[in-house]
Amino acid sequence: MRTQVAIIGAGPAGLMLGRILERAGVDAVILERRSAEYVLGRIRAGVLEQGSIELLDAVGVGERMHREGLVHDGVELSFDGDTHRLDFTSLINRHVMVYGQTEVTHDLMNARAASGATTIYEASDVRLLDFDGDGARVEYRKDGQTHVLECDFIAGCDGYHGVSRVSVPASALQTFERVYPFGWLGVLIDQPPVADELIYAHHERGFALCSMRSPARSRYYVQVAQSERVEDWSDDRFWDELRSRLNPATAEALKTGASIEKSIAPLRSFVAEPLRFGRLFLAGDAAHIVPPTGAKGLNLAMSDVKALGTALVEYYGEKSAAGIDNYSQTVLRRIWKAERFSWWMTSLLHVFPETGAFGRRIQRAEFDYLTGSHVAQQSLAENYTGLLD
Ligand code: APR
Repeated sequence: MRTQVAIIGAGPAGLMLGRILERAGVDAVILERRSAEYVLGRIRAGVLEQGSIELLDAVGVGERMHREGLVHDGVELSFDGDTHRLDFTSLINRHVMVYGQTEVTHDLMNARAASGATTIYEASDVRLLDFDGDGARVEYRKDGQTHVLECDFIAGCDGYHGVSRVSVPASALQTFERVYPFGWLGVLIDQPPVADELIYAHHERGFALCSMRSPARSRYYVQVAQSERVEDWSDDRFWDELRSRLNPATAEALKTGASIEKSIAPLRSFVAEPLRFGRLFLAGDAAHIVPPTGAKGLNLAMSDVKALGTALVEYYGEKSAAGIDNYSQTVLRRIWKAERFSWWMTSLLHVFPETGAFGRRIQRAEFDYLTGSHVAQQSLAENYTGLLD
């Protein structure tokens, strides 16, 4: 089989790239290790920046998002129970949309199925070959047989644990990493959210986040030590811990019950450089990881593939390599700004083992500065709703 662009991974990055290319008449095949059902079963992020909303609209898959998604004009920050609402609309006239990554994936999958474009699910042992030469190849196993996909370019959209990044010789790649000494214990529950907007809370017992997926489905998180095991957290223990970190009125209003999903996610900042090696490009979680504080992971994946898709369309349409030549440099600038913001939000809101009394006073001062300064609030709002470039 031959295609113009072989896309590895059918997460939001791979599917969105496929959609951008398909709309411009560029042929692409997606190879995905898992089944479509498995991909759709993953519970992931849920906040879309304005740029991601616009991209979904631009490629014709925004209709259900506008119908079912929740427009959020602000967030609430809380520090030891003192709360402050940031109103994005009045601060910078922008907003975000709460619409689960699972739903975005679903909409992109449906659009791809309707277009007849090829996605090969349950493709195992994917191998990236000859991407430093004149024509690349991807080998994979499916139904007991080895297949070869010949292509002009490979887009590695296969997440942090994928095969694409590790196919690059280690000497050609520089990586930058910070692993945080804690994780987020997350619970999904079919109960209305405790508030209309997200609540980010710093408490001496640790960070907490009240989030949601819909008016009837809530997502809550508490910071836990790296050593914690999810089996040790009964629903009751989770709710008690969450309540203890919220302000009393919010804790009182919390609607609890049996969780429908519970898991612990580690927190990590990670960037690989560069993001192009000959005919191979990296995008999304394959290229970078941010801690979830700040809701940047999915949005960065969207901005990466918007840039990559545009560059590849330009390459085929206008016979210009300028876009693909600049891809790595262009997206890395944006990636590092999102890494900075995610690291900053994480540093402000979490309790670090080494923080100590001085560090907590500094965190409190940061919160007080933020709540007292219009300019500081504008800066947070600008970053949270998504930088323009
Ligand atoms: N071969 C083929 N597919 C693979 C391989 C492989 N060797 N390894 C991983 N994959 C697939 C995974 O099964 C997954 O479906 O690649 C896909 C990668 O998807 P995601 O992990 O969702 O990454 P990405 O599309 O970059 O999405 C961005 O933003 O909200 C954050 O972390 C969250 O997943 C989200 C990410």
